[in-house]
Amino acid sequence: MSMRPGLPAKAHRLLAPRIAYLIGTRSAGGEANLIPVSNVTSISTDPQQILLAVYKQWLTYDNLNATAGFTLSVPSAAQLEGVWKLGARYSRYDFPDRPAKLGASRLTILDRPDMFGPVLAEGLGWLSCRTVQRLDFGGDHGVYVGEVVHVEFNTDVFGDDGRPLTELRPLMQVTGNHFSTASETITIPYGNE
Ligand SMILES: Cc1cc2nc3c(=O)[nH]c(=O)nc-3n(C[C@H](O)[C@H](O)[C@H](O)COP(=O)(O)O)c2cc1C
Repeated sequence: MSMRPGLPAKAHRLLAPRIAYLIGTRSAGGEANLIPVSNVTSISTDPQQILLAVYKQWLTYDNLNATAGFTLSVPSAAQLEGVWKLGARYSRYDFPDRPAKLGASRLTILDRPDMFGPVLAEGLGWLSCRTVQRLDFGGDHGVYVGEVVHVEFNTDVFGDDGRPLTELRPLMQVTGNHFSTASETITIPYGNE
Protein backbone atom coordinates (compact mmCIF):
# COMPACT_ATOMS: atom_id res chain seq x y z
CA MET A 1 0.00 0.00 0.00
CA SER A 2 1.23 3.52 -0.70
CA MET A 3 -0.04 7.07 -0.32
CA ARG A 4 0.73 10.07 -2.46
CA PRO A 5 0.09 13.77 -2.03
CA GLY A 6 -3.08 14.95 -3.79
CA LEU A 7 -4.40 18.32 -4.91
CA PRO A 8 -5.24 20.31 -1.75
CA ALA A 9 -8.16 21.90 -3.64
CA LYS A 10 -9.74 18.44 -3.90
CA ALA A 11 -9.14 17.38 -0.26
CA HIS A 12 -12.89 17.42 0.48
CA ARG A 13 -13.24 14.41 -1.83
CA LEU A 14 -11.72 12.29 0.96
CA LEU A 15 -14.84 13.03 3.05
CA ALA A 16 -17.00 10.79 0.87
CA PRO A 17 -19.54 9.39 0.46
CA ARG A 18 -21.78 11.77 2.38
CA ILE A 19 -25.56 11.84 2.72
CA ALA A 20 -27.24 14.28 0.35
CA TYR A 21 -29.67 15.96 2.77
CA LEU A 22 -32.30 18.40 1.52
CA ILE A 23 -32.28 21.84 3.13
CA GLY A 24 -35.59 23.70 2.99
CA THR A 25 -35.66 27.49 3.33
CA ARG A 26 -37.87 30.47 2.52
CA SER A 27 -37.02 33.86 1.05
CA ALA A 28 -37.84 37.02 3.01
CA GLY A 29 -40.98 37.18 0.84
CA GLY A 30 -41.94 33.60 1.80
CA GLU A 31 -41.02 31.67 -1.39
CA ALA A 32 -39.98 28.08 -0.66
CA ASN A 33 -36.71 26.52 -1.81
CA LEU A 34 -35.31 23.01 -1.31
CA ILE A 35 -31.73 22.03 -2.24
CA PRO A 36 -29.35 19.11 -1.63
CA VAL A 37 -26.57 19.83 0.88
CA SER A 38 -24.01 17.26 2.01
CA ASN A 39 -22.01 19.60 4.27
CA VAL A 40 -24.04 18.71 7.37
CA THR A 41 -23.25 17.23 10.79
CA SER A 42 -24.62 16.97 14.33
CA ILE A 43 -22.67 19.10 16.83
CA SER A 44 -24.72 18.64 20.03
CA THR A 45 -27.25 16.09 21.27
CA ASP A 46 -28.47 18.11 24.31
CA PRO A 47 -29.73 20.42 23.01
CA GLN A 48 -29.94 18.87 19.54
CA GLN A 49 -27.93 21.10 17.22
CA ILE A 50 -26.78 20.60 13.64
CA LEU A 51 -24.34 22.52 11.48
CA LEU A 52 -24.41 23.12 7.74
CA ALA A 53 -22.23 24.93 5.20
CA VAL A 54 -23.80 26.64 2.17
CA TYR A 55 -22.01 28.28 -0.77
CA LYS A 56 -22.31 32.06 -0.67
CA GLN A 57 -23.53 32.29 -4.29
CA TRP A 58 -26.68 30.21 -3.67
CA LEU A 59 -30.12 31.64 -3.03
CA THR A 60 -30.30 29.35 -0.01
CA TYR A 61 -27.43 31.35 1.53
CA ASP A 62 -29.51 34.56 1.22
CA ASN A 63 -32.57 32.76 2.60
CA LEU A 64 -30.63 31.44 5.62
CA ASN A 65 -29.45 34.98 6.37
CA ALA A 66 -32.91 36.53 5.94
CA THR A 67 -35.07 34.13 7.96
CA ALA A 68 -35.23 32.44 11.38
CA GLY A 69 -34.68 28.79 10.49
CA PHE A 70 -34.55 25.90 8.03
CA THR A 71 -35.67 22.31 7.55
CA LEU A 72 -33.62 19.21 6.80
CA SER A 73 -35.03 16.12 5.05
CA VAL A 74 -33.29 12.79 4.47
CA PRO A 75 -33.92 11.34 0.99
CA SER A 76 -33.68 7.65 0.17
CA ALA A 77 -31.38 6.42 -2.61
CA ALA A 78 -34.50 5.80 -4.73
CA GLN A 79 -35.16 9.56 -4.78
CA LEU A 80 -31.90 10.39 -6.60
CA GLU A 81 -33.48 11.79 -9.79
CA GLY A 82 -35.62 14.30 -7.92
CA VAL A 83 -32.83 15.32 -5.56
CA TRP A 84 -30.51 15.83 -8.54
CA LYS A 85 -32.99 18.25 -10.12
CA LEU A 86 -33.39 20.17 -6.84
CA GLY A 87 -29.63 20.83 -7.02
CA ALA A 88 -30.21 22.56 -10.39
CA ARG A 89 -27.37 25.08 -10.23
CA TYR A 90 -24.96 22.19 -9.62
CA SER A 91 -26.59 19.53 -11.80
CA ARG A 92 -27.01 22.02 -14.69
CA TYR A 93 -30.81 22.14 -15.04
CA ASP A 94 -32.40 25.42 -15.99
CA PHE A 95 -35.76 26.17 -14.36
CA PRO A 96 -37.59 29.50 -14.66
CA ASP A 97 -37.96 29.76 -10.87
CA ARG A 98 -37.85 27.79 -7.61
CA PRO A 99 -41.54 26.69 -7.65
CA ALA A 100 -40.97 25.22 -11.17
CA LYS A 101 -37.90 23.38 -9.89
CA LEU A 102 -39.77 21.92 -6.91
CA GLY A 103 -42.54 20.70 -9.24
CA ALA A 104 -40.10 19.24 -11.77
CA SER A 105 -38.45 17.14 -9.05
CA ARG A 106 -41.69 15.10 -8.91
CA LEU A 107 -40.98 14.45 -5.24
CA THR A 108 -43.83 14.72 -2.72
CA ILE A 109 -43.05 17.98 -0.98
CA LEU A 110 -44.86 19.24 2.10
CA ASP A 111 -44.88 23.04 2.33
CA ARG A 112 -46.88 24.90 4.94
CA PRO A 113 -46.46 28.65 5.50
CA ASP A 114 -45.88 28.10 9.24
CA MET A 115 -42.83 25.89 8.53
CA PHE A 116 -39.29 27.30 8.09
CA GLY A 117 -39.14 25.61 4.68
CA PRO A 118 -40.53 22.72 2.63
CA VAL A 119 -39.78 19.09 3.52
CA LEU A 120 -39.78 15.73 1.76
CA ALA A 121 -43.03 13.98 2.68
CA GLU A 122 -41.86 10.49 1.68
CA GLY A 123 -38.20 10.39 2.67
CA LEU A 124 -36.58 8.72 5.69
CA GLY A 125 -37.65 11.64 7.88
CA TRP A 126 -37.25 15.36 8.39
CA LEU A 127 -36.53 17.93 11.05
CA SER A 128 -36.98 21.61 11.56
CA CYS A 129 -34.39 23.98 13.10
CA ARG A 130 -34.32 27.48 14.51
CA THR A 131 -31.04 29.13 13.47
CA VAL A 132 -28.98 29.92 16.57
CA GLN A 133 -25.68 30.96 14.95
CA ARG A 134 -24.50 32.29 11.59
CA LEU A 135 -20.72 32.00 11.11
CA ASP A 136 -18.27 33.19 8.48
CA PHE A 137 -14.73 31.83 8.54
CA GLY A 138 -13.72 33.77 5.40
CA GLY A 139 -14.27 30.79 3.11
CA ASP A 140 -16.68 30.50 0.19
CA HIS A 141 -19.44 28.92 2.32
CA GLY A 142 -21.54 30.39 5.14
CA VAL A 143 -21.86 28.19 8.23
CA TYR A 144 -25.14 27.84 10.13
CA VAL A 145 -26.01 26.15 13.42
CA GLY A 146 -29.62 25.20 13.95
CA GLU A 147 -31.36 23.92 17.06
CA VAL A 148 -33.91 21.20 16.38
CA VAL A 149 -37.46 22.22 17.25
CA HIS A 150 -39.32 19.32 15.59
CA VAL A 151 -38.45 15.93 14.08
CA GLU A 152 -40.50 13.33 12.18
CA PHE A 153 -39.31 9.76 11.51
CA ASN A 154 -40.69 7.58 8.69
CA THR A 155 -42.48 4.82 10.63
CA ASP A 156 -41.60 2.17 7.99
CA VAL A 157 -37.93 2.82 8.69
CA PHE A 158 -37.54 3.98 12.32
CA GLY A 159 -38.98 2.88 15.68
CA ASP A 160 -40.38 5.29 18.29
CA ASP A 161 -36.92 6.07 19.71
CA GLY A 162 -35.41 6.75 16.28
CA ARG A 163 -33.60 3.41 16.01
CA PRO A 164 -33.81 1.95 12.50
CA LEU A 165 -36.12 -1.05 12.04
CA THR A 166 -34.56 -1.99 8.71
CA GLU A 167 -31.41 -1.40 6.65
CA LEU A 168 -31.03 2.34 5.96
CA ARG A 169 -30.61 3.32 2.32
CA PRO A 170 -29.98 7.09 2.39
CA LEU A 171 -28.85 8.82 -0.78
CA MET A 172 -25.10 9.48 -0.59
CA GLN A 173 -22.93 11.55 -2.93
CA VAL A 174 -19.49 10.16 -3.78
CA THR A 175 -18.48 13.15 -5.92
CA GLY A 176 -20.06 15.14 -8.78
CA ASN A 177 -22.78 12.99 -10.39
CA HIS A 178 -21.65 9.76 -8.67
CA PHE A 179 -23.88 8.47 -5.88
CA SER A 180 -24.06 5.43 -3.60
CA THR A 181 -25.94 4.22 -0.56
CA ALA A 182 -25.18 2.24 2.60
CA SER A 183 -25.11 -1.53 2.03
CA GLU A 184 -25.22 -3.77 5.11
CA THR A 185 -25.42 -2.90 8.80
CA ILE A 186 -22.61 -4.49 10.85
CA THR A 187 -23.23 -4.93 14.61
CA ILE A 188 -20.38 -5.20 17.16
CA PRO A 189 -20.78 -5.79 20.95
CA TYR A 190 -19.96 -2.97 23.43
CA GLY A 191 -16.86 -3.53 25.62
CA ASN A 192 -18.93 -4.36 28.74
CA GLU A 193 -21.22 -6.90 27.07
C1 LIG B 1 -25.63 15.84 -3.97
C2 LIG B 1 -25.40 17.33 -3.85
C3 LIG B 1 -24.81 17.85 -2.70
C4 LIG B 1 -24.62 19.23 -2.57
N1 LIG B 1 -24.06 19.71 -1.42
C5 LIG B 1 -23.93 21.06 -1.26
C6 LIG B 1 -23.40 21.57 -0.03
O1 LIG B 1 -23.03 20.83 0.88
N2 LIG B 1 -23.32 22.92 0.09
C7 LIG B 1 -23.71 23.77 -0.91
O2 LIG B 1 -23.60 24.99 -0.75
N3 LIG B 1 -24.22 23.31 -2.09
C8 LIG B 1 -24.34 21.98 -2.27
N4 LIG B 1 -24.86 21.47 -3.45
C9 LIG B 1 -25.24 22.42 -4.52
C10 LIG B 1 -26.64 23.04 -4.39
O3 LIG B 1 -27.59 22.10 -3.96
C11 LIG B 1 -27.13 23.58 -5.77
O4 LIG B 1 -26.18 24.34 -6.40
C12 LIG B 1 -28.46 24.33 -5.68
O5 LIG B 1 -29.01 24.40 -6.98
C13 LIG B 1 -28.35 25.77 -5.13
O6 LIG B 1 -29.65 26.33 -5.27
P1 LIG B 1 -30.15 27.75 -4.79
O7 LIG B 1 -29.33 28.80 -5.48
O8 LIG B 1 -31.59 27.76 -5.20
O9 LIG B 1 -29.98 27.82 -3.28
C14 LIG B 1 -25.03 20.11 -3.62
C15 LIG B 1 -25.61 19.58 -4.78
C16 LIG B 1 -25.79 18.22 -4.90
C17 LIG B 1 -26.43 17.66 -6.14
